[in-house]
Amino acid sequence: MNKSGNPTSLIMIFGATGDLAKRKLFPSLYRLFEKGSLTDQFAVVGVARRPLTNEEFQTSVKDSVLTALGKDANIDEFVSHFYYHSHDVTDSSSYVTLKTMAAGLDEKYNIGGNRIFYLAMAPEFFGTIALHLKSDGLTDVKGFKRLVIEKPFGHDLESAKELNEQIRTAFSEEEVYRIDHYLGKEMVRNIEVIRFANAIFEPLWNNRYISNIQITSSETLGVEERGRYYETSGALRDMVQNHMMQMVALLAMEPPIRLTDEEIRSEKVKVLRALRMPEGEQIKDYFVRGQYGKGTVNGEELPGYREEQMVNPESNTETYVAAKLMIDNFRWAGVPIYIRTGKRLTTKSTKIVIQFKDIPMNLYYQTDKELNPNLLVIHIQPDEGITLHLNAKKAGQHLDATEVKLSYANSGINGMNTPEAYEKLLDDCMHGDATNFTHWDEVALSWSFVDNISEVWENTKEESYPNYEAGSKGPKAADELLEKDGFFWWPIMELDVDKC
Ligand code: BG6
Repeated sequence: MNKSGNPTSLIMIFGATGDLAKRKLFPSLYRLFEKGSLTDQFAVVGVARRPLTNEEFQTSVKDSVLTALGKDANIDEFVSHFYYHSHDVTDSSSYVTLKTMAAGLDEKYNIGGNRIFYLAMAPEFFGTIALHLKSDGLTDVKGFKRLVIEKPFGHDLESAKELNEQIRTAFSEEEVYRIDHYLGKEMVRNIEVIRFANAIFEPLWNNRYISNIQITSSETLGVEERGRYYETSGALRDMVQNHMMQMVALLAMEPPIRLTDEEIRSEKVKVLRALRMPEGEQIKDYFVRGQYGKGTVNGEELPGYREEQMVNPESNTETYVAAKLMIDNFRWAGVPIYIRTGKRLTTKSTKIVIQFKDIPMNLYYQTDKELNPNLLVIHIQPDEGITLHLNAKKAGQHLDATEVKLSYANSGINGMNTPEAYEKLLDDCMHGDATNFTHWDEVALSWSFVDNISEVWENTKEESYPNYEAGSKGPKAADELLEKDGFFWWPIMELDVDKC
């Protein structure tokens, strides 16, 4: 900590010339700097393969801040803390040079030996880098040392275990910060507050009052230039194993006894342990997969997934997943949690809908329809807020009921994958708060759940692919998944805060 109470740190970003660093990390660090959370006692070392001078690197940091945020007040002062090291991840001598550089910066900025190693690059090198950081002495510091690691954390349980073992030779679990950027989103962080700070929700938050929960995270973009990665991942690994499962855990966990990272994690882990694991033939009753074909959006012809760059023309990879998850515990027995996520859909939106059970008897018959169920909608993005759908009397003489909506809109940034999420996560990491990072136990449990499904999917070719058009609402089978339980997906576009 420095005098202002903010932590001092030397941040080494591996993959500093990559997309993530430019689009998210530099703008987020800049915002922290502008807010005074990063004071003079910090330095950033950009580490990447290509040769660059410090000046060239600083110019690229400047450009990324301006591009992402459209402003650059005090930018020269900010970038003067940035340095560059051209690195070979497998070569010890390169780490030794980095170590000397780090020691110099530590002294120059009076950092006190605090170090954050941020791995924002190809995952195949995560393990190698962690091992070298230890063997070449970079983790030998008198302050804190923390490893921030981007997804994907492994490709399946086995590879995740192997990676974890490599990392753990150099860092303890408390020193590992596994990023799930959904946990940096304002309204994802709000889930626990909505649940545990409101007397009107918590008593109803169980199978006696909730009929089902729906979590949708839909995207309009296709795989863009990430075909090579996506072919080995698919929507199940790319979105479900991490972001979707994390939201499920936060929605379903028991109230923690205290708001510490250990207590919250231990409640989340219990949810993941209680997930019903469908096997073999049963998987079809719980999971739906889809792949987009070509389509037209606003007059523009969009290619199908199989026509995208670096994608096998006969690819069996799913770009869409819908699932019915059952949590077999006292609180949730019998309540389906439906999730869906996919690329090239009609809208970019993440929302959670909690549908409450119907009242026992409807006294207020409307002329043409039944009473609407009460819904609590948590808007994660692009709009941020909550809406409660209630029934109230229609104005006029008759005692007819009509739907009314109470909305709270958070004035969040209307953008995708906003730097804001990274800003919060970086700040948390500097303060040593690991609450919004994924613990190894959570990673292991969600991989073992997902592996079960992906093994079957990889070994059975889906003959119906492509089964939804680019720009559409996804495969029909996703609707049938709910219809057979007597439910339907709430149309998320109509639930937007501004439509309420
Ligand atoms: C990433 C996935 O983790 O999340 C991407 O790798 C996906 O494929 C992205 O597009 C979605 O994030 P957001 O914040 O835009 O919903």
